[in-house]
Amino acid sequence: MAEAQDIPTRLAKPVSHSVSTSPSAAFHSPSSSFGGANLARSATLSNQRELKPFDTTDIKILLLENVNQSGRDILSGQGYQVEALKTSLPEDELIEKIRNVHVIGIRSKTKLSEKVLREAKNLIVIGCFCIGTNQVDLEYAAKHGIAVFNSPFANSRSVAELVIAEIIMLARQLGDRSMELHNGTWNKVSAKCWEIRGKTLGIIGYGHIGSQLSVLAEAMGMSVIYYDVVNLMAMGTAKQVPTLEALLSNSDFVTCHVPELPETKNMIGRVQFEQMKEGSYLINASRGSVIDIPALINASRSGKIAGAALDVYPSEPAGNGDYFTNSLNPWAEDLRSLKNVILSPHIGGSTEEAQRAIGVEGKFSAINVGEALVRYVNSGVTLGAVNLPEVNLRSLTLDERDHARVIYIHRNVPGVLRRVNEILGNHNVDKQITDNKGDVAYLMADISNVQRTEVKEIFDSLEALSSRILTRVLY
Ligand SMILES: NC(=O)c1ccc[n+]([C@@H]2O[C@H](COP(=O)([O-])OP(=O)(O)OC[C@H]3O[C@@H](n4cnc5c(N)ncnc54)[C@H](O)[C@@H]3O)[C@@H](O)[C@H]2O)c1
Repeated sequence: MAEAQDIPTRLAKPVSHSVSTSPSAAFHSPSSSFGGANLARSATLSNQRELKPFDTTDIKILLLENVNQSGRDILSGQGYQVEALKTSLPEDELIEKIRNVHVIGIRSKTKLSEKVLREAKNLIVIGCFCIGTNQVDLEYAAKHGIAVFNSPFANSRSVAELVIAEIIMLARQLGDRSMELHNGTWNKVSAKCWEIRGKTLGIIGYGHIGSQLSVLAEAMGMSVIYYDVVNLMAMGTAKQVPTLEALLSNSDFVTCHVPELPETKNMIGRVQFEQMKEGSYLINASRGSVIDIPALINASRSGKIAGAALDVYPSEPAGNGDYFTNSLNPWAEDLRSLKNVILSPHIGGSTEEAQRAIGVEGKFSAINVGEALVRYVNSGVTLGAVNLPEVNLRSLTLDERDHARVIYIHRNVPGVLRRVNEILGNHNVDKQITDNKGDVAYLMADISNVQRTEVKEIFDSLEALSSRILTRVLY
């Protein structure tokens, strides 16, 4: 099997020497524009030829926040150098570590801001082993050719089940009864305790979680209405309502499942509490910014709402401990004092099933984070990326021995493709695909019958184009 090279430009400085035949020699020469991880080809049992790291120990991966073992296994199974830490890191330590890695895997606590990413000179891809990607500056990453993958569906069911539990707990004041009895007080009451059968659940945001919840709630005998900015097909007999107000004024239970966006910030505030039914309940397991919590405190104290369950907060501590105080959020102690208010520490997606599924989804799933990272590193496929266009090319076969795969991430400006094709046009381009997302475009091309020296020429020529963001050549 011939050797192969991955030629990212993260360590790029102009080079005077040609591509090394020694993968590790090339990698350890930081002055080389071939100085990224070196990739080689290897075969699978089928006729598929993988463009795979030749000396995979060159690919350095940092996994933070205790990424599930199954995710780690996928990456270390490739022979990558994987360092896995249990927690997130303070910004200065993160900056120090991120300088040296090609791949970083995080969950929700690690903030990959522009300041941090500016230092990530070798980074080609970020894996968010969680649903949200708000913790990453996606735009900065895209503009610097860093792909971001996440695991958007893995814990929807866990969140939906928690919300069902909370609906019943709120309706029966179960949190308060339990707390009282823990404190030794027997307080058997039925006043203002309800069955949920026949009540109306209003779901704000009918995406992955909202729609699953809809099915579960109907199975419990609830009527479901939902409000979403997009027209979405209803599950079961649920009904979409045209406005948020229509939802609030008709629901016994209101639950929020929208993303964190400028439009969803304080989406439920004083005015919306006034629009809610007297004695209704509010649940938020989406993002902390969605509810104006001082307004919720007032609505609870006035009796306008009969209870609330919150799983997420505007500020959340980075680790476990006695942190839920006014120094974290100025209203924390008022919130803690309210009756029939369930407070949980962002555990909506925290089940064994969801954590396993986030680390390794089914082998047929294209969005598995670990597999998506491997696929991206080894073959440049961006399926499931949240900040780059999703681009796929079929794998090379074992017969295609002298083929190279060119990946050219570039600014989407007029005339680029003509210039790229002038460079590639001297070769036999077997397949080529390009797509863009906003200002950033992703081109992948497989070229046949290329020699190692030609690969370097192609690489250097693409690098010299003013539109270049990142060039990789897998050979
Ligand atoms: N508590 C937890 O542990 C936990 C776990 C997973 C997800 N989440 C959060 O739950 C939320 C929902 O996740 P999901 O996977 O269902 O997301 P999703 O993207 O599948 O669905 C979100 C829905 O909200 C709709 N939407 C967007 N803006 C809206 C607006 N202004 N008004 C009404 N609808 C709007 C979208 O059209 C979409 O249908 C996210 O904020 C996510 O971060 C929390």
